[in-house]
Amino acid sequence: MDASSPNPGPLAAVVLCAGKGTRMKSEKAKVLHSLLGRPLCFYPIWRAVELGAAPVVAVLGHQADEVQKVISEAFPDRLIRYAMQPEQRGTGHAVLCAREALRSFEGAVLVLYGDVPLLCRETLERLWEAFRARRPKLAMITSIADQPTGYGRVVTQARDNQPAKVLRVVEEKDASAEERCIDEVNAGIYLADSRFLFEALSQLGGENAQGEVYLTDVVERAAKEGEVVAVRADFEEIAGVNDRSELAARAAVLRMRINTEHMKRGVTIQHPETTFIDDGVEIGPNTVIGPMVSIHAGCEVGADVRIWQGCVLNQSTVGDGSELRPYSVLDETVVGPRCQVGPFARLRPGSVLEEGVHVGNFVETKKTRIRKGAKANHLTYLGDADIGSGVNVGAGTITCNYDGEAKHPTVISDGAFIGSDVTLVAPVTVGEGAYVGAGSTITEDVPPGSLALGRGRQVVKEGWAVKRRARRSRGS
Ligand code: UD1
Ligand code: CA
Repeated sequence: MDASSPNPGPLAAVVLCAGKGTRMKSEKAKVLHSLLGRPLCFYPIWRAVELGAAPVVAVLGHQADEVQKVISEAFPDRLIRYAMQPEQRGTGHAVLCAREALRSFEGAVLVLYGDVPLLCRETLERLWEAFRARRPKLAMITSIADQPTGYGRVVTQARDNQPAKVLRVVEEKDASAEERCIDEVNAGIYLADSRFLFEALSQLGGENAQGEVYLTDVVERAAKEGEVVAVRADFEEIAGVNDRSELAARAAVLRMRINTEHMKRGVTIQHPETTFIDDGVEIGPNTVIGPMVSIHAGCEVGADVRIWQGCVLNQSTVGDGSELRPYSVLDETVVGPRCQVGPFARLRPGSVLEEGVHVGNFVETKKTRIRKGAKANHLTYLGDADIGSGVNVGAGTITCNYDGEAKHPTVISDGAFIGSDVTLVAPVTVGEGAYVGAGSTITEDVPPGSLALGRGRQVVKEGWAVKRRARRSRGS
């Protein structure tokens, strides 16, 4: 232990989110790219918050407004401060830009890169423990990589009976052929004494292949002043995202972590390799999820739910004991308990199914409440509608909610029966317990308890077909 080092004291964090991410070949800043329903930078910021860092400073630059917006939506409690890096002059320069936001802070500063999303909480806790126990100027996470290409290499000096001593980090572009053979890489995760960090950074230049101020050069300075503590982590945890193939590779790992977590909590996932569940989705126990199901951010699924193959859920809630049969698609929809949906149902934004509702194949709903126990089992469109409890909607029923200019409501009151192939021209109300005959076009309100028919009368011409065939066979 270096006795001259100050007490680590409180903990702050700086998360670097300013870069463009040129290798992504994207108009969108790299840290805004989505990883399992969250922007990339959400993950390191969340780790810093979890570890108890306060404040957490996000350094913004490229598309600063958009990045700040997504961060403040994810972390609404004013825990996050923002610092601007107007020009992206390197990772060291980026940290220096956070100095002002940490003006009154003294203690340990955790530095994380916004493009390294898979770090585990326990690994960060190990780093923090090592820092507190040994009080170095700087502690860092390193990893042994099978393919270190693209990462900074950790140059060390072997010592007897001790782990090798960290001397410095060399970026790949600046490394000699020999240094490129080093398989220990820099994770880009550091804990440093705040005074040391900002002093060292303010003295750095950009004399390197990229003309940037490298944060990694602080490592050499710390090694000269004392010992740099290195904590090892699995490469899987520290792997970054620099291009889209790496984004997909990190997503695959995170997806399996999320699926495994749900399975541990009592959810059956029949084919985890093809199941996509975004980060933060809640699923109750004993729910069974079939293959090729996607459950996106903002969804909540109850207990004992059955979600069959190919269903896609966005910002939707599914109540206990409900069943989503194959290939049903739910957007901003609430499905109550013990409902049956699909196969091939499409529930669009604003659909609310109360308890025990059945919505069957090729049924589309939009901004529609279907009350307790009502059924619409086949080939139907219900838009801007309120369907009463116990209603039966026949096959092929359509609410004509749009007149070319505006949308209008349809109300079908409790206990009404709508025959097959009915068109309801909105605005229109069908009263409680009323019947609407099959094939009707309903343009006027139907009083409670009545029968409405709105179709041409059937005409029967006795013997017509027989005569026609006879004519044909005579050739006339
Ligand atoms: C960096 C490290 C490298 C390490 C690797 C781990 C440096 C010089 N190199 O390389 O040793 O192995 O990460 O993933 O630090 N950023 C800014 N402002 C800038 C430049 C970058 O905010 O001026 C942000 C980026 O948005 C990104 C992060 O810093 O989130 C890392 O930058 P990136 O350019 O990806 O660094 P690497 O080349 O991956
Ligand atoms: Ca990177």
